[in-house]
Amino acid sequence: MNIGVLGTGIVGRTISAHLAGGGHSVVIGTRDVAHTLAQSAPDAMGTPPFSAWHGSHAQVRLGTFAEAAAHGDVLINATVGHASLNALAAAGGDALAGKVLLDIANPLDFSHGMPPSLFVCNTDSLAEQIQRAFPALKVVKTLNIVTASVMVNPSLVAGGDHHMLLCGNDAGAREAVAGYLRDWFGWQHVLDLGDLSAARGMEMMLPVWLRLWGALQTPMFGYKIAR
Ligand SMILES: NC(=O)c1ccc[n+]([C@@H]2O[C@H](COP(=O)([O-])OP(=O)(O)OC[C@H]3O[C@@H](n4cnc5c(N)ncnc54)[C@H](OP(=O)(O)O)[C@@H]3O)[C@@H](O)[C@H]2O)c1
Repeated sequence: MNIGVLGTGIVGRTISAHLAGGGHSVVIGTRDVAHTLAQSAPDAMGTPPFSAWHGSHAQVRLGTFAEAAAHGDVLINATVGHASLNALAAAGGDALAGKVLLDIANPLDFSHGMPPSLFVCNTDSLAEQIQRAFPALKVVKTLNIVTASVMVNPSLVAGGDHHMLLCGNDAGAREAVAGYLRDWFGWQHVLDLGDLSAARGMEMMLPVWLRLWGALQTPMFGYKIAR
């Protein structure tokens, strides 16, 4: 399948590498291709420069957000939450129309220091903001509640015996994404929470996730829903 991944951070790289390794045709999108390729030092979070990663993942093509979106039959939003609307606007409405978007972004606000707060919550969500801004897009919120390596390899935690959540307004898109989670990444347990307003809760799981990370001293965990 042709897949457009918006975002060149750890999430975009991890998803792109996994999908390309599985035989998919992947274009990973960035604001400025030349600028991204020119970076030669790790960023403030210690993430290695894109070119260092790309050297060993040359099958993933780097393009602009618009080129990645035009390439993808399915799109993945792995941009920083505060810029997701800008990145999708740069992708262009025509390239988005009618497509399924797996929205992984979290609305984290680091402007007041650590731990981050959420810049939208309770009565709205980033996923709903995206859906309102791009009504022809089929937004499905998912994968935002685990760290990048677990997204593409849930068996790294408890042999895969934990849950992934999803939600979205289009039932067909939710069903398609449940299949992608299973077939692309190996998720055994996917819970469909219904319409996109469930993204409020999924995004509000991040403050809990961050405290768990601190308490467990590792990001290698997931949520298992027992009943
Ligand atoms: N890291 C994780 O394990 C994890 C887990 C769950 C969810 N998430 C969420 O997944 C998303 C991606 O996380 P990440 O850590 O991989 O990367 P990130 O650093 O949060 O985002 C990197 C991407 O955001 C783009 N970006 C930054 N500022 C921008 C702006 N002003 N306008 C347009 N685009 C802009 C960058 O564009 P350039 O390519 O041009 O630099 C880059 O592609 C985030 O929303 C994060 O909260 C992350």
